[in-house]
Amino acid sequence: RPAWNLPRLREAAARGEKLAMLTCYDATFARVLDEAGADILLVGDSLGNVIQGESSTLPVTLEQMAYHTRAVAQGKRQAFLITDLPFGTYESSPQQALASAVALMRAGAQMVKLEGGGYTAETVRFLVERGIPVCAHLGLTPQRVHAIGGYRVQGRDDAAAQVLLDDATALAQAGAAFLVLELVPSALARRITQQLPQLMTIGIGAGAGTTGQVLVMHDMLGLTGGAHAKRPRFVRDFTRVPGTPPEAPGLSVPQAVAAYVKAVKDGSFPDEAVHGY
Ligand code: KIV
Ligand code: NA
Repeated sequence: RPAWNLPRLREAAARGEKLAMLTCYDATFARVLDEAGADILLVGDSLGNVIQGESSTLPVTLEQMAYHTRAVAQGKRQAFLITDLPFGTYESSPQQALASAVALMRAGAQMVKLEGGGYTAETVRFLVERGIPVCAHLGLTPQRVHAIGGYRVQGRDDAAAQVLLDDATALAQAGAAFLVLELVPSALARRITQQLPQLMTIGIGAGAGTTGQVLVMHDMLGLTGGAHAKRPRFVRDFTRVPGTPPEAPGLSVPQAVAAYVKAVKDGSFPDEAVHGY
């Protein structure tokens, strides 16, 4: 496989290939995920939760994101690398976003991701015009958890769905290459994907109609939340072989990641009846 870059990703998406993204935070997992076929690695600010043990992504700093980005960049070969702009490092102005994005690109990111609706379109355009590819993120945007009041499905009624579609359109026109859709109804994610073919959509809890999928690595390895935690409905533990009892031996990390990549590519994950809204 040649290394992914943005034009190759666009070609693959245009051919109808599903793109498999996973979060990643260090060099060893970067190598393992890359070798197992993950197309895109996301240094997500979810590292606040899964690495740092915080209860939200708000405490994560730009320096921490750059540190993890450099580690992942050292370990990966073919995968494309996207890094989140953390809370408070891009909202003030396009200039602030540029300075923050530069720090992440210098650390090895090939694209930056930022959360938020139409108000961020100006920033997206500013970055894209300056050679920094951008992934947008709509639906449940965890940096706004205190404004939203929790981690719940977004865009459920007609008015909210229209706002989401308008935001996605503005972000596409501003030049965003990717759009993460988190916790939105499957039908809405499919509609956005079909109406905005210039935007590659990546779903998490957004059904099967998107260009690609993303999961937090620790979630899809069944490691999050402890033995008694309630797993969000959109997560599948890929270390478990379907149809085998819970005490049966699980898959290794490389095998589980390969199973995820295969399931995304062949359309068997997500199963909207099980993982969708
Ligand atoms: O930080 C993260 O892991 C993310 C994904 C869940 C999309 O933003
Ligand atoms: Na994130």
